[in-house]
Amino acid sequence: MSDVLTGTSTGAIRCTYDVPRRFRPPAPPRHFVGRDAELAGIRAGGVTVLSGPGGVGKTALALKWLQERRSGEQLYVDLATQDLDRLLRAFGLDGVAADETAAVFRGLVARRQFTLLLDNADSADQVTPLLPASGTVLVTSRVKLDLPEAQEIEVEPLTDDGRLGQLLDRSYVELPERQARLYRLCAWEPGTFGVPVAAAIAGEPDCDVEDALDDLVEKSLLTEVGDYAFRFHDLVRAHARTKRYQ
Ligand SMILES: Nc1ncnc2c1ncn2[C@@H]1O[C@H](COP(=O)(O)OP(=O)(O)OP(=O)(O)O)[C@@H](O)[C@H]1O
Ligand SMILES: [Mg+2]
Repeated sequence: MSDVLTGTSTGAIRCTYDVPRRFRPPAPPRHFVGRDAELAGIRAGGVTVLSGPGGVGKTALALKWLQERRSGEQLYVDLATQDLDRLLRAFGLDGVAADETAAVFRGLVARRQFTLLLDNADSADQVTPLLPASGTVLVTSRVKLDLPEAQEIEVEPLTDDGRLGQLLDRSYVELPERQARLYRLCAWEPGTFGVPVAAAIAGEPDCDVEDALDDLVEKSLLTEVGDYAFRFHDLVRAHARTKRYQ
């Protein structure tokens, strides 16, 4: 059993590793709007599951809550892309047996009292072994997880009360022309699209388009949903489409 769990002095020393950048929560969208009720409803302490369809704003909501909370150390794990072995190694915990990974992870979270965000969970079975006995855990999932004793918040689509439009306008006017043009043109693509499709739409080389798409993602105007796969949030797409005629 790893010393993280048994509490030996080695474990204590190992646990002082800083949270590596890739396991820190990224910033929420710059133009975050609404969600006042949801933000107020997420409790510190215990497990809260934010469930809802893809692109509805679960991750953004969780990140905003973490940013507002600011107290203590926070740990972000994207369950869709990050593996726990790698995370444990980043904390100096090498050579953990496969059947001990979850327990060592729970021990690490408990000992450091991390506020934990488990993003993109696909089932209760995936999440349950990772939950520490105490502390605050946020989980996002496209499906309802029905975890015992967890608070479950169903995240509904945002309705634009006008504030989002104004904020998007502000981001839009700051865009260089290539990015602004891509934003306007790609918004007519109804679903997920990749670099070659965007390049064909814009009539530009893949490499230029790739950089411009990355800029849009950085400005929270576009969502990266996989390896070089992009999609607009519905409200952002609607905003971008209005720019076509201006
Ligand atoms: N409250 C908000 N204010 C502004 N932008 C938002 C808000 N919520 C979500 N967005 C934007 O909408 C897009 C999709 O949001 P997000 O990634 O949080 O969705 P999700 O529900 O986590 O989707 P998935 O299931 O694919 O992970 C992002 O570009 C995000 O910046
Ligand atoms: Mg998400």
